Amino acid sequence: MQEILQQLEAKRAAARLGGGEKRIAAQHAKGKLTARERLEVLLDEGTFEEWDMFVEHRCTDFGMQDQKIPGDGVVTGYGMINGRLVFVFSQDFTVFGGALSEAHAEKICKVMDQAMKVGAPVIGLNDSGGARIQEGVASLGGYADVFQRNVMASGVVPQISMIMGPSAGGAVYSPAMTDFIFMVKDSSYMFVTGPEVVKTVTHEEVTAEELGGAITHTTKSGVADLAFENDVEALLMLRRLYNYLPLNNREKAPARPSGDPIDRMELSLDTLVPDNPNKPYDMKELILKVVDDGDFFELQPDYAKNILIGFARMDGQTVGIVANQPLVLAGCLDIKSSIKAARFVRFCDAFNIPVVTFVDVPGFMPGTAQEYGGIIKHGAKLLYAYAECTVPKITVITRKAYGGAYDVMASKHLRGDVNLAWPNAEIAVMGAKGAVEIIFREDKKDPAKLAEREAEYKARFANPFVAGARGFIDDVVLPHETRKRICSRTPARRWKWIGRPLRCARWPSR
Ligand code: COA
Repeated sequence: MQEILQQLEAKRAAARLGGGEKRIAAQHAKGKLTARERLEVLLDEGTFEEWDMFVEHRCTDFGMQDQKIPGDGVVTGYGMINGRLVFVFSQDFTVFGGALSEAHAEKICKVMDQAMKVGAPVIGLNDSGGARIQEGVASLGGYADVFQRNVMASGVVPQISMIMGPSAGGAVYSPAMTDFIFMVKDSSYMFVTGPEVVKTVTHEEVTAEELGGAITHTTKSGVADLAFENDVEALLMLRRLYNYLPLNNREKAPARPSGDPIDRMELSLDTLVPDNPNKPYDMKELILKVVDDGDFFELQPDYAKNILIGFARMDGQTVGIVANQPLVLAGCLDIKSSIKAARFVRFCDAFNIPVVTFVDVPGFMPGTAQEYGGIIKHGAKLLYAYAECTVPKITVITRKAYGGAYDVMASKHLRGDVNLAWPNAEIAVMGAKGAVEIIFREDKKDPAKLAEREAEYKARFANPFVAGARGFIDDVVLPHETRKRICSRTPARRWKWIGRPLRCARWPSR
């Protein structure tokens, strides 16, 4: 017995040491924490239960039979974040560069399977040189096993990826299929092919940071949701995000009672929107003034800034916020903003999170770049997401709601539950100037007449009452009472049951 206990302790110590003191020091020298240190920051103290500490790879090529480290480069198990269950895997760069072997993948699959069974999220801390080169196709098979589980878990339990080191080649596709990707600045990167391959194929010279660093993916590609200064900040923010999410698709998001009165009036909102319809204002100010305690967890703040997305609470309940941002591109919808918001709306829909939409949209962005880029199909993704969405949808039109974009932005027609408008809302096919230039083309050479027509059009359509007369909006509310009106809409906060026509899952046999 004594012997086996000593053996056990020796194996545990070896697993805890990962690739050894020297490699741990190298990891620290890069400003990175080790896989285990990261879990200590992420999880509530003393809650981590490790699985598969003794798993080893089975590779015998290239002398690998003599290089075995218990755990095989990934620490897996479960723990708690603010008392709520979470399954985790944390890749250990000190062991074969965190490279994914068949056994390493099996460990990840095991926690993913269990997470789906019990209904709890999976968080992956990625720090890996990719497929374990010595194992060849066995490690590629391991990746595919993880990918398949990412898809099976999608919409069932939240999946979050934190990129804390390299993530290249096939390794990027597992994070890509998770719900949120966070990155650490200067120490993490993601790309399908690295700078060397890029140089060979396209003759472009680019650094790893430029090609796939945290700034690139949070500003240019939109692949990542947020970038953080260092490991600790990133993990603490992940804990914050976790507080907004339900554990699975059968649960409601956790409510956090707040001292912020639900009938709080915010008089400053009455002057938020400028009289001049072409003058921008900051939609974020409205969000911060309306949600509980001014606490808005914004996602993708530096990408497609013409739309804002993120989580907040109203009357303690998690809500997803989507809002046009008039400060950028006048808040119009384009390819990037449509994709950004569509993905977010679909997440909220899958996980029972009501969607609150603030609308000030002059339409879709015109131009060849948008048309050639496929705005028709990409814009339709947002339309589809809102139309498909069956969680409570509350919409407030603060100013413009023009054209097809009016329909898209959680309109009544797309099963909006509560659709409100501020008194100065303009719900129309387009702005008055554009409209008269088309329908009164014959007056083009007569500016006075055109101005008269414009004023006439404005008086007729630049208001919320035409839509109100048809029941397309439920009420006109004063800006300062917006919070109260959203929080008190109890019918919209109850569970909804919406059926849809049955769809054939298979091709017909004949
Ligand atoms: N398979 C097996 N071992 C790997 C590996 C992989 N995919 N990636 C890294 N390692 C090992 C290295 O051999 C090294 O081992 P050592 O400490 O015994 O010398 C250790 O991990 C650390 O790697 P190192 O290259 O020293 O670290 P780095 O920070 O300088 O570079 C990478 C990191 C990821 C850029 C670099 O290791 C790399 O290019 N790896 C290969 C990436 C790849 O092509 N993967 C396969 C396709 S998915």
